[in-house]
Amino acid sequence: MTPPVRTEEGGGHFGGRPPGALLSVRGLSKHYGGIQALDGVSLEIHAGQVHALVGANGAGKSTLVRILAGVETADEGEVSLGGRRVSISAPQDATKLGLSFIHQELNLVPKFTVLQNMALNYEGSRRLGLVDWRPVAARAGDVLAQLGADFPLDREVADLSVSQRWTVSLGRSLMRDARMVAMDEPTASFAADEAERLFAIVRDLAARGVAVLYISHRLDEVLDLSQDITVLRNGQLADRHRASDVDRQTLTRSIVGREVAEIERHEGSPDTVRDALMRIEGLVREPSVRGVTLDVRRGEILGIAGLVGAGRTELARLVFGAERAASGTMTLDGRRFEPKGPHEAIARGVALVPEERRSQGLLLKESLAFNVSLASSGQNRWRRGLPFLSAGKARAVAREMVERFAIKAHSVEADVESLSGGNQQKVVVSKYLRCQPRLLILDEPTVGVDVGARAELYEIIRARADAGTSVVMISSDFEEFAICDRVAVMREGRIETVVDGPHATKDTLTSLCYGTGAAGS
Ligand SMILES: Nc1ncnc2c1ncn2[C@@H]1O[C@H](COP(=O)(O)OP(=O)(O)OP(=O)(O)O)[C@@H](O)[C@H]1O
Ligand SMILES: [Mg+2]
Repeated sequence: MTPPVRTEEGGGHFGGRPPGALLSVRGLSKHYGGIQALDGVSLEIHAGQVHALVGANGAGKSTLVRILAGVETADEGEVSLGGRRVSISAPQDATKLGLSFIHQELNLVPKFTVLQNMALNYEGSRRLGLVDWRPVAARAGDVLAQLGADFPLDREVADLSVSQRWTVSLGRSLMRDARMVAMDEPTASFAADEAERLFAIVRDLAARGVAVLYISHRLDEVLDLSQDITVLRNGQLADRHRASDVDRQTLTRSIVGREVAEIERHEGSPDTVRDALMRIEGLVREPSVRGVTLDVRRGEILGIAGLVGAGRTELARLVFGAERAASGTMTLDGRRFEPKGPHEAIARGVALVPEERRSQGLLLKESLAFNVSLASSGQNRWRRGLPFLSAGKARAVAREMVERFAIKAHSVEADVESLSGGNQQKVVVSKYLRCQPRLLILDEPTVGVDVGARAELYEIIRARADAGTSVVMISSDFEEFAICDRVAVMREGRIETVVDGPHATKDTLTSLCYGTGAAGS
């Protein structure tokens, strides 16, 4: 086992590095009501290095970033830049100091165009108080091209996909010549190809001497990209590691505070006897779904792998009735299935946990308990049960969920908005899992969920499938397909091939998604 590099308070630097951190944080504390979100955390970030900040959901990562960005004020502690103490009490202060941020909750203005969003607070954009658009547009265009963006500058942000919005946010922070860039879970909504582009950008930033503070729950990328790793646990500094000195398992233990089993590959023999619950034939909705034929068997977990634009989310939306197909057929249990809207899909026992959960799955200003009662009111129809959950029952159910998924909330009456990003995800996913649909479609179920809670989520999904629910799981984290019975690879709007669970390794799936490999079965 690798010992943590140091945990004692005080300055100093990590082993073998020249003195003089670019940014150093000393004894940072912050509380919200009764919750100590940060408790005396110290950290040093060096120019030209990638410093990863990891920790379970609610550990305090985003809080730290928000303080550095001047969005929140610390109760205690100090921040120095280049050895000199600085005060950051508003976002403009951070910008002036050359600190740039991509927050977990993108703060883009949906009604503004891409360009207008990118120009917000861009110093180069003002001359005599007026916006001079030409240089801004040129700069924005360059940056977006470098990011491989496939949308125009005059598109409204509201019309962009989740990952495209990330690209805008990333572009906005790259437009400024920053000394440090902090990224709070940048790859959470990126598929493999986009993530790779981001990694190249991160490496390039570091090579140009920029310090990068990088937050992620995907530990492989953390180990791959970073030199230093700081682990937060319950708002405290738990460990510091050199990335070259730790492996995934050690890091996981350091984050969760206990041993966590690696994802166990589902080795059940592909069961050809089990019949199909849903049959999809020749389903088309241009441009993204171009003739999908696929069976979903009873009680299986069927993964759907693919790159961005492969058509996975669109396929899910067709099945859920959120969109109508131009042609093709679907049957459920041998009967025609042509939902005219989600209500009809739900009535037949089909549920979708959408990719964009914060906006589609939650009422942020309402309590956890209220959010739970809402979900159930629609879904109880499947069990011909009560139309609504009473407030008391909702609280009881919410409490059970909090317990089961280790959701970090001070009470079930807490506004969902006050939960950390990953804990919000857990609320949505668990609320759907609790119900008993016949077909459950999960679009990126573990985005933003920490490594410990993930293991629990997988167990619950598996138990649901064993109890007879068919599960379709779309994911960009190819490792989690290990829990699947089968994995369909989608490419350019069609199902390229279906791989049996035991063969659905990350390498095989990656090459199939890119269309470069004939591996698999
Ligand atoms: N505005 C707020 N009001 C009340 N509590 C808050 C608020 N913001 C954060 N918290 C609490 O502070 C703690 C730390 O939250 P933070 O968002 O920093 O976690 P995180 O490490 O970023 O987690 P995640 O991985 O889920 O994004 C959590 O318990 C959270 O509920
Ligand atoms: Mg966070």
